[in-house]
This record gives sequence, structure tokens and C-alpha cells, in this order.
Amino acid sequence: MKITIIGAGYVGLTSGTCLAELGHHVTCIDMNEDRVARLRAGEVPIYEPGLQELMASNIQAGRLLFSADTVDGAADADAVFIAVGTPSLADGDIDLSFVQDAARGIARVIKPNCVVVVKSTVVVGTCKALREIIAEERGALDFSIASNPEFLREGTAVRDFLEPERVVFGSDDPRACAVLEQIYQPLADRGVTVMRTSNANAELIKYSANAFLALKIGFINDVANLCEQVGGDVSAVAAGIGLDTRIGSAFLSAGPGFGGSCFPKDTRAFAATGRKHDAPQGLIETLIEGNEARSRMLAERVLRELGSKANGATIAVLGLAFKANTDDIRDSPSLAIIPWLQKAGCRIKAHDPKAMTEAAKQLDDITFCDNAYDAARDADGVIVLTEWDEYRHLDLAKIAGTMRGALLADYRNLWLPSDMTDLDLTYLSIGRPTVS
Ligand code: NAD
Ligand code: UGA
Repeated sequence: MKITIIGAGYVGLTSGTCLAELGHHVTCIDMNEDRVARLRAGEVPIYEPGLQELMASNIQAGRLLFSADTVDGAADADAVFIAVGTPSLADGDIDLSFVQDAARGIARVIKPNCVVVVKSTVVVGTCKALREIIAEERGALDFSIASNPEFLREGTAVRDFLEPERVVFGSDDPRACAVLEQIYQPLADRGVTVMRTSNANAELIKYSANAFLALKIGFINDVANLCEQVGGDVSAVAAGIGLDTRIGSAFLSAGPGFGGSCFPKDTRAFAATGRKHDAPQGLIETLIEGNEARSRMLAERVLRELGSKANGATIAVLGLAFKANTDDIRDSPSLAIIPWLQKAGCRIKAHDPKAMTEAAKQLDDITFCDNAYDAARDADGVIVLTEWDEYRHLDLAKIAGTMRGALLADYRNLWLPSDMTDLDLTYLSIGRPTVS
């Protein structure tokens, strides 16, 4: 199949590369010419484990091309995937302008019978509306439209695409379904469940999946708050409830709140859709409020511990990315927690293995450090915000020895309270007793 992907970001680039790996001929188009030039030079503009190697082998095999020119890249495609961003508007609703522009951009270019596949995360009804936009520009209905939401996670995106638990696509047009079935046949041959449904269902499945996963995280964070008050241990509680397969053990790690380019914006868009269609999503509305409030609550916990020394204290922040194994800082808890600390007069030193360049664009007055030990030197407190594996192996005695103060706030539960024995540290973690 000849496939064109519009938007070569986290999803477009991973999907395009993996579809090439499945044997298709793929052209990834991005309007960012600098990004396209870097991609053509074999450079991956994002940090995503395994992507560089897979991209290189598929470029070499002649199955993966990059272009900044929609006309050039989309004209002979059997299917055009739209994988551009769908950020939040100020009121929380979804900004569909990039998707709409992408649809307008391909409308006159695509060949007859082309299938336009919406991979961006979009609210229910979007495919229907895009069909009208394309038809208006094109003046003919000789194309099909389908929804094919993406479930990959950053950090494990390649594996998630090539070994997914399911592929979901939806279209009200059997011809589009037939093309998508053919595209995903190599995965079906490996035993992957490929679910075919209606356009609206596919759109709803994507938001419901993200909202449900976010709910699990919000729930366990609330349980963690209770554990802190009553002497429980949230890790044990999560392990105990997770043994029930109806609940499942995944997505029950308590932490600083969910961030990233998806859960915060997708829960907001889901809630806005509910309000618009008079089907309020009360659980999700409450979840969003609780998650937003959590950043301030966790900053205040540190400030309380520092007491009168908070104003003028130096805090070392370990981890800026919204989770480990990515350089993505979109809606990262660090972007909310750090300003609360700065507002209280704290000076911030920070380290992240991959996300410092991105963070420097969004955070002011931060001293970036080459490693965690440099960040901790002379600090009054250390806060862990991202669960990078390298932090798990830090020499805590060395950290404690280099600090001016003695506060370690482990907001990813990287260590156990028992690891603090013999260390002169006050150890705060999530949903577990404070050790001092
Ligand atoms: P991104 O911001 O990383 O990438 C989007 C890219 O599209 C950018 O490079 C931009 O230059 C390009 N672009 C925008 N408009 C264009 C146009 N008209 N023509 C050509 N290029 C254009 O976004 P992302 O993180 O890849 O997310 C894309 C979509 O996928 C979103 O709807 C998101 O919710 C969804 N999604 C993301 C993830 C994830 O892990 N990031 C996972 C599943 C679904
Ligand atoms: C998430 C979903 O997991 C993907 O299935 C989906 O495709 C994607 O959103 C999307 O729609 O874009 P991603 O945002 O890459 O993927 O990362 P997750 O691993 O889901 O983590 C999201 C946030 O929740 C992170 O801040 C993470 O630290 C937090 N989290 C996750 C927890 O606090 N606890 C957990 O147990 C799991």
C-alpha cells in the first residue's frame, strides 16, 4: 500500500516508520521544513527508544520518505493518515484547527478512492465534519474517511505500535474498512486483534480509553493521600487491589499526577464533549480538578517541611519530563510544581537526562545541571519528579553528603522508606509514611 502521513511528530513519525516496517511505502509530510530536513538527514527530532534504528533501516530499504510538500507527497497515496496535533483551547475544548487545515490541504490533491484516515485524537463527530470539509474543497465524494485512533505510549511507542494489544478502526464506508484491514493485515497475521467498528465508536473508544486510564491514576493518587494520613502504604494497597483481574495492576502507580501531551488535554476535551451533548462526565470533571490541584499540594508539602527556610531555599529537581524515557515535557507536573516553589522564594536547580532543552524553553530562572549530584550539591531539598531509571541507582549517601539541607521528596516512590536507614535525610514519598 502507498501511505502518506500528515504530521511527523511523536505519532506520525512512529506510525509512519512502523507502517513502513510492516512493508508499506510511506511518505511522512510535515509543514515544519526544518524538521523534514533533519528527518531526511536521518536525524530523529524526538527522543523515542528504538525509533532511530527502525527509521534508518526503512529509509535504506526505500520504504520511508519525508517531504514538506503535501502535493508531492499525497497525490498517489491509497491512504492518507492525518496525525497532526489536537491541543486544548483555553476553555478546555479541543482545537481541531490543525486537523481541519490538514484535511483542506489534501482535499484537492488526493487521488480518487483515497481513504483519509484520522489518527489524531479527535472528539466524536470529527470524521463526519472532515468529510464535509474535504467534499466542499474537492467538489466530489470520491473518497472515504475513517477513524484509526492510536494507543501508543511515548517511551515505548515502537513496541506499542508493532505489538499492540489491539488495533481499532472505524468507518461507515466498507471500502475504507477493506483498505485498513489490508494495511493492518501483517499485524493480524501475528495474532493482533483488529477491531472494526463505526466511525463514531472508534472516536469514542479513544477518549474513553484515555479517560479510564487517567481515572485509575487519579483514584490511586487519592488513595495515596489517605494512606499518608492513616499510616498506610499505597504500594501495598495497589498491589493488593491489582491482584483482582477485574481491577488489574497496571496504571496504579501513585505519583505527582498525570501529565503529558494526552491525558490532560484528552480528559478536558472528553469533559467538554459531555457538556456539549448534555451527557455530563462528572467523574472526569472531578478527576481534572483533582489532578490540577495535586501539583500545588505537592509543592506545599515540600514548603511545609522546609518551614521558615523555604523562602531562599535551593531545591534540586530531578526529572522534568512528564514520565521517563521521553524528552516530552508537555503538561509535565514539573511545569506546575516548579513555579509554585519559585513563587514561595525557592531557587531551582534541575536535571533531566533528556528533557532539559525542551524545559529551558518553558521554565524561567532554572540552573540546569549535568547530573543529579551536581543538582543536589548545596541544595536544601531534592525533589524527584520523573522516574528515570538512572535515578533509582543514585548513591543516596553521596546525595545526602553533598546537600546543605536534608529533605528528599521522592514523588515517584523510587526508593523504599527502609532504604533511608542510616541516612541523615527526611524522606517524603507518595502514600507512605514520612521517614525522618
Ligand atoms: P506533535 O505535536 O508531536 O506532532 C504534530 C506534527 O504535525 C508537528 O510536527 C507539526 O509540524 C505537524 N503539522 C501540523 N499541521 C500540519 C499540516 N497541516 N501539514 C503538515 N504537518 C502538520 O503531535 P503528536 O504528539 O504526534 O500528536 C498527534 C496526535 O496524536 C494528537 O491528536 C495526539 O492527541 C494523538 N496521540 C498522541 C500520542 C502521543 O503519545 N504523543 C499517542 C496517541 C495519540
Ligand atoms: C497515554 C496512554 O497510555 C496511551 O495509550 C495513549 O495512546 C496516549 O496517552 C495518547 O493518547 O496520546 P502517554 O501519555 O505516552 O500515553 O504516557 P502514559 O504512560 O500513559 O503516562 C501518562 C501520565 O500518567 C504520565 O505523567 C505518567 O507518569 C502518569 N502515570 C502513568 C502515573 O502517574 N501512574 C501510572 O500508573 C501510570
